[in-house]
Amino acid sequence: MHPPPSLLSLLLFLHLHLSLYPSACWSSRIIVVPPIMFESHLYIFKTLATELHLQGHDTSLLLSEGRQVPPSPHYTFQRYPGIFNTSTADSFLQSKVSNIFSGRLTALELFDILDHYAQNCDAVVGNKQVMTQLKDADFDLLLVDPNEMCGFVIAHILGVPYAVFSTGLWYPAEVGAPAPLSYVPEFNSLLTDRMSLVQRIVNTAVYLVSRFGVQYLVLPKYERIMRKHGVEPRVAMQDLVQGSRLWMLSTDLALEFPRPTLPHVVYVGGILTKPASPLPQDFESWVNDTEEHGFVVVSFGAGVKYLSDDITHKLAGALGRLPQRVVWRFSGVPPSNLGNNTKLVDWMPQNDLLGKSQFSTSCTLSFLTFLSSFPPSSLSVCLSLRKEGGVRVRRGEERLG
Ligand SMILES: *[C@@H]1O[C@H](CO)[C@@H](O)[C@H](O)[C@H]1NC(C)=O
Ligand SMILES: *[C@@H]1O[C@H](CO)[C@@H](O)[C@H](O)[C@H]1NC(C)=O
Ligand SMILES: *[C@@H]1O[C@H](CO)[C@@H](O)[C@H](O)[C@H]1NC(C)=O
Repeated sequence: MHPPPSLLSLLLFLHLHLSLYPSACWSSRIIVVPPIMFESHLYIFKTLATELHLQGHDTSLLLSEGRQVPPSPHYTFQRYPGIFNTSTADSFLQSKVSNIFSGRLTALELFDILDHYAQNCDAVVGNKQVMTQLKDADFDLLLVDPNEMCGFVIAHILGVPYAVFSTGLWYPAEVGAPAPLSYVPEFNSLLTDRMSLVQRIVNTAVYLVSRFGVQYLVLPKYERIMRKHGVEPRVAMQDLVQGSRLWMLSTDLALEFPRPTLPHVVYVGGILTKPASPLPQDFESWVNDTEEHGFVVVSFGAGVKYLSDDITHKLAGALGRLPQRVVWRFSGVPPSNLGNNTKLVDWMPQNDLLGKSQFSTSCTLSFLTFLSSFPPSSLSVCLSLRKEGGVRVRRGEERLG
């Protein structure tokens, strides 16, 4: 299996990083701290761990006891008694999404998620047996998913160098990169890099609120946990965040707004893509039928299983008007106005579908982008990838409703 170039460069980075430590030589012990929910993040880390193993490293994933992950010859698990198991984590997440659809403030729901992260972190850090076990394992590197910041705390306690692997949009001012507010739209501002004066003021306001939230509401939660368990030496969370040796962002410059970056920030988007394998029979005959206009792939990832009826209805109406045929990863009650060009599926071989020549457009959103674009009745960011000679990537905005 040939890993894609971005994965190779990531592995090269990890190699160079690890070889700076004399004890590590070329085989290192790596521990990954994935977030306690979001199976899609776990999927990325499993891929990463497999590839690292093929390069001669040992990787462990730190998971709660009830989290069901099939065993693999490529990585091992370090278990701890956490606050969720697979099914409770999923129903928690879906309840947050449905609360947002029923009109509760997105920020409140996000804070509740953060609160559960902190509770779980408290459970891990406070568990002497687990922490001793982790110390004894003598890791060379810890990979943090900043979606959940407990990884920073654990790395500090273990005294292990750490690097960040961010699957989402987490590239905030806290990393230390300049964010010129006149053309870098703040996350959750719903703005683009072309802003009027008023929009720049709005962007500044969102920026200030976000910094305030992170400084006074998010980071202190973890500082309290460290104080509670007498973690020495005392350190500010902000310093721990900035102490990451490397920031790997699973996104690509072609899809992001241009912005200043830092030497220790690398874009590693596309590490999950691989050459398309043959499709299962039913998908293949469906794809064969789409020769004329091509097809569109719609999927909101595992984080968002159920959409509200209102959004489902609008989306189905809009998709039904397209000349292309549509395959939509969907759970729940099918909308009554579903177009005859639209096929609903529980699961789809996304990588293999996107590799077909008939593929024309994909509408997908990460969970956080998704939350930040609702409740306003707009669903933004449909990526449009067209093969016309080369590959042209366009950032499209599709307003539905
Ligand atoms: C997860 O935890 C809940 C509540 O503690 C329990 O009812 C359920 O059986 C557990 N599920 C699994 C798969 O362990
Ligand atoms: C789909 O088309 C390809 C080539 O055009 C053909 O080889 C294949 O048998 C077709 N598959 C089905 C299920 O119709
Ligand atoms: C789908 O519906 C449209 C209008 O409702 C109709 O014109 C078209 O022929 C239908 N297509 C198929 C494949 O049934």
